[in-house]
Amino acid sequence: MSKPVDVVVMAAGKGTRMKSQRPKVLHRIGGRALAQHVIDCAARLSARSVVVITGHGAAQVEAALRAPAAMSLRFVRQEPQLGTGHAVQQAVPLLADDGLTLVLSGDVPLTRPETLQALVDLGAGEHPALLTLDLPDPTGYGRVVRGADGSVQAIVEHKDATDAQRAITEIYSGIMVVPTRLLRGWLARLDNRNAQSEYYLTDVVKFAVADGCTVKAHRIDDAVQVAGVNSPQQLAELERAHQHRLASHFMQQGVRLADPARFDVRGELVCGQDVEIDVNCVFEGHVELGDGVRIGANCVIANARLEAGAVIHPFTHIDGEALGVRVGPGALVGPFARLRPGADLGAEVHIGNFVEVKNSTLAAGAKANHLAYLGDATVGERVNYGAGSITANYDGANKHRTVIEADVHVGSNCVLVAPVTIGAGGTVGAGSTITKSTEPGALAVARGCQASIANWQRPQKQKKPV
Ligand code: UD1
Ligand code: CA
Repeated sequence: MSKPVDVVVMAAGKGTRMKSQRPKVLHRIGGRALAQHVIDCAARLSARSVVVITGHGAAQVEAALRAPAAMSLRFVRQEPQLGTGHAVQQAVPLLADDGLTLVLSGDVPLTRPETLQALVDLGAGEHPALLTLDLPDPTGYGRVVRGADGSVQAIVEHKDATDAQRAITEIYSGIMVVPTRLLRGWLARLDNRNAQSEYYLTDVVKFAVADGCTVKAHRIDDAVQVAGVNSPQQLAELERAHQHRLASHFMQQGVRLADPARFDVRGELVCGQDVEIDVNCVFEGHVELGDGVRIGANCVIANARLEAGAVIHPFTHIDGEALGVRVGPGALVGPFARLRPGADLGAEVHIGNFVEVKNSTLAAGAKANHLAYLGDATVGERVNYGAGSITANYDGANKHRTVIEADVHVGSNCVLVAPVTIGAGGTVGAGSTITKSTEPGALAVARGCQASIANWQRPQKQKKPV
């Protein structure tokens, strides 16, 4: 049986170079906090628990992070911050001796669970194991010092390193796994007699070696997996790397992206077969795209389910927020359409340019093609809703519903003052303000009558006296 893994996430540092009020580990990649990526990775590794070490912005960090079900998430505060070794010292009292401690950083979001699993396997439950990497420019990093036989002897921080050690290109990534029982003893021996007067976690390596315990190293070549975020520039670089990974993943599933470099998922996207996505689309929250869905360029789509064959034309904004949006099979939406929470479009519904739909159900085949508003409405099958028409759903205090029954034609530029029902098969004349419900099959017209004055002389401009 392999030993249980307890993850320690260091997240107490300030992140000065972000120049932000927000704690560094709460900046986002792919719509998720940096430290949340780390916690989610731990969950995919089937870790037993996660302990996050907080300091700067502790209350905010603690309030923002969540553990997936079945994994315990605890926080310990480190105040003041006296180094990475001191940070882990705060966590070990919470950890059981039968496990392995996997140390991660809250600002290193893109490590793959497979990589961490390989590191854990390398340690085999007995040895400390370090994740390392060769860097052409290792400046600033801890160097992995190896003996003549290639075995790991120590990690020396850049500031403490000799010139010969600074020539070493193999760096410590900041990620290690150590049997907890051993770690506890070695942490107790740390001191801060070094260039930074800090308690270095990396010093546990030399104690392990002194105790005759072999320290393993898992050297990888994918720098993105161990890259940290210290500045807005690095945040943007890792955002791109993350999006690139996601784009590759979707293309492998058969999704056709016009340009994988212009595709952003800030949440969870689920795609069926033969989905096509044009450039510059952003997906947020939970979005499902059914088979054959096509999304035009420059759409923002959040919290929505688009069913098979739905087509979203360019520049459409959809956000279902908590209520969600559904676009039924074969529906056409946009260009320049806006679907808000509770928009529920049936099969083959058409929503055209500059049409806004909120908290409204449109049954199969209904159409609102131009410049219209449907709010708090129930719209029957095959209704045709004219250009420029609106539901006046708000009386200044309360919202009311408009019911438009099947096969109604609403002319252009009508106002339907809710609560009101337009009876099935009825027609509303253009320009009408409808305040009373209408009978099925009736024509309702409610507007000023046209007057005609023959030979009308327009007023003349008066000449100004000189
Ligand atoms: C650390 C390693 C270095 C490695 C590098 C990789 C040590 C002594 N050095 O250096 O060998 O090459 O990471 O990026 O470990 N933190 C706390 N409390 C503290 C200090 C730090 O929680 O008291 C957190 C920081 O917020 C950060 C992480 O620990 O998330 C790493 O700290 P950082 O100061 O970036 O370590 P480095 O000096 O870069
Ligand atoms: Ca660092």
